[in-house]
Formats: sequence, structure tokens, C-alpha cells
Amino acid sequence: MDQANLENLAEQLLGKIRTRPKNPYQPTYLSRSFKVSPENIIEAAALLGTWGYNIKIDSKKQIIFNEAPDKFLSIEIAYKLKTRLIGKEIIAYQSVQSTNIIAQVLAVSGAVEGTLIVSEHQKKGKGRFGRTWYSPPETGLYCSVILKPDIHPSKAPGISLVAALAVADAIKTYGDLDVKIKWPNDVLISGKKVCGILTELSGEFDRAHFVVVGVGANINQQLSDFPSSISKNAGSIRIALGKKIKRVEFLQRFLRNFEKDYLAFRSGGLKKMRKRILKYSPLPGHEIELRNGLNTIKGNVLDIDDDGRLVIESASGKIAFNSGEVTTRIE
Ligand code: BTN
Repeated sequence: MDQANLENLAEQLLGKIRTRPKNPYQPTYLSRSFKVSPENIIEAAALLGTWGYNIKIDSKKQIIFNEAPDKFLSIEIAYKLKTRLIGKEIIAYQSVQSTNIIAQVLAVSGAVEGTLIVSEHQKKGKGRFGRTWYSPPETGLYCSVILKPDIHPSKAPGISLVAALAVADAIKTYGDLDVKIKWPNDVLISGKKVCGILTELSGEFDRAHFVVVGVGANINQQLSDFPSSISKNAGSIRIALGKKIKRVEFLQRFLRNFEKDYLAFRSGGLKKMRKRILKYSPLPGHEIELRNGLNTIKGNVLDIDDDGRLVIESASGKIAFNSGEVTTRIE
């Protein structure tokens, strides 16, 4: 059996044996179901082992499925994923420079809307303002989603807020944590940044061709895992909850939320989500400093509007900002 057929068999075998964990399966029985030899079944089970699945082949050559790995494998992410657009195509890597860069290349060459690119590790994860995103393996989530909304480019920053909302809602399913969205696209728990979002647009001046939404989330890091340059402001879901969570399950919850809200955004903008976003937003009613390009603006935050802009009352009047970085919140 060639490698492609063996991989195919391994996926089908997994689909069957994972329905009854701990149950011993006879290779001869499985070989009849899949119309292959018992040796092929053993080979496929061994291959699943190399992918990280905890599968035992006992002394009687019986195959026992114990546990799936918490790894970003495309079959694992797709397993029971309840979305119809986002994650329709999943491309998973062990290590890349940046999932956003891969997503852009794939989008240019015609990848379908909703394609998800995920990697266990990034060598050069991109952050906002030319920063890097610390992306060690096994603890975090680094993924990018290709979207093709028919919108004016000025509306694209709203998608970052939709993604931030999906992350915040996914975190909330794990416990009653103090989750906030720091406009425009950071998610914090108890004041510590646990997720950053980098939305990159390609298009003409009046029409977006595609948007890449990159999400970096600190999931199972401990404080000692962060380099000193970020440890003061960084947090993780594990630190906040006091226990590890399953990263694949978190990604699935995020994708599900994101799809629901993105479809609403595509048809009606942020209108339907604005109230939910505001509930997570600590800024309205506070004095802040906002860095926007070379300018720093001081003012009182009035609102986040239907386009996701931060509305500030400053010395020169009321201004709505599409982007920027809130550097100080003056209590
Ligand atoms: C920020 O600066 O807060 C945004 C960080 C975004 C990081 C994510 S990780 C997955 C995706 N790929 C990248 O290279 N960057 C984004």
C-alpha cells in the first residue's frame, strides 16, 4: 500500500475506532470492514501512533484507541467541528514563519473563503506595528483565516473586533473570568493580554479582495514560559483558570463563534454585535491616550460605533478612529 492510501486508511480507521475508546478491535474484523489486509490495518494504526494518537496494539495484536492528542492536526480540528464556512479547508503545519504570510500566499492563489491555516509553532509570528508575536510550540494557538467579504476596505477593522468577540466568548465558556476586549483587537484576562489579532487586507481602494485574520492566543503557557520582555503584560487562559485546557477544543469553539458573528457582520456590519462588544470593553467613559500613526491623541472615550471605530471627545472635538493603539488609560 502506498503512503497516500495508508494515510487515507489511517484516517478512516481512526474514524471507526475512536467511537469506542478502550475497546479492543481485531485487525481481521477491521480488515473485512475496510477491505484491506490485517497487516495494512496494523500499519495504519502504527501510523496514527506517529501522528500522536494514543493507540495500543496489544500482545494479541488487538487495536485499542485510548486518546486523541491535543495537537493542531487537520483531522483533529475537523473532528466534530460544527462550522460550514470557516475551517471548510484546514491546512495544519508543524512550524512556519507566519500563518498570516501563508494565508496571503494561498489567498492570492485562489484558496476558498474560510480556509484555516494553523501551525504548532511560528518562527516569525507577526504582531501589529511590525512587532513579533512570541509563538512557542505546544502551548499557544497561532492561526489565520482567509475571508472574502464584499466590503469597503474601511469596514475591515470591524472584522478584528468580530474575531476578538469570538475569542472572548470562547474563553468565557471555560469559567467566569474577567475577560475584556481592548480596542481594537486585544483580548485580556484580568488585565493581562492573552490574545492578539492581526487583520491584513488586500484590495483596491474601494473593494476588499480578501482579508486575513490572524489570531495568536496564549492558552496553556505558565508565567515562567514568557520571555521577560512580555511577562509583565502577558497572561494565558491556563494562568487565569489554574488548569490546562484542550487547545483543539478552544480553537473549535472560537471558529464556531467566529463563523456565526462573521456571517452576521457580512450581512449587516457590526450592528448586531455592538452591544456584546461594548459589554467586554473597558474604555468607554475613560480618559485615554491613543497613538495613531505619528500622532498621540488624548481624550475621553465616548463609544465604539457601528463601524467598530473608537469615538473620542478630544480637545479638537469628537473624532472616530479606525485604528490605533491605546497606550494609556487614565483612571
Ligand atoms: C498583536 O500584535 O497583538 C497581533 C498578534 C497576532 C499574532 C497572530 S499569530 C497567528 C497569526 N500569524 C501571524 O504571523 N500573526 C498572527
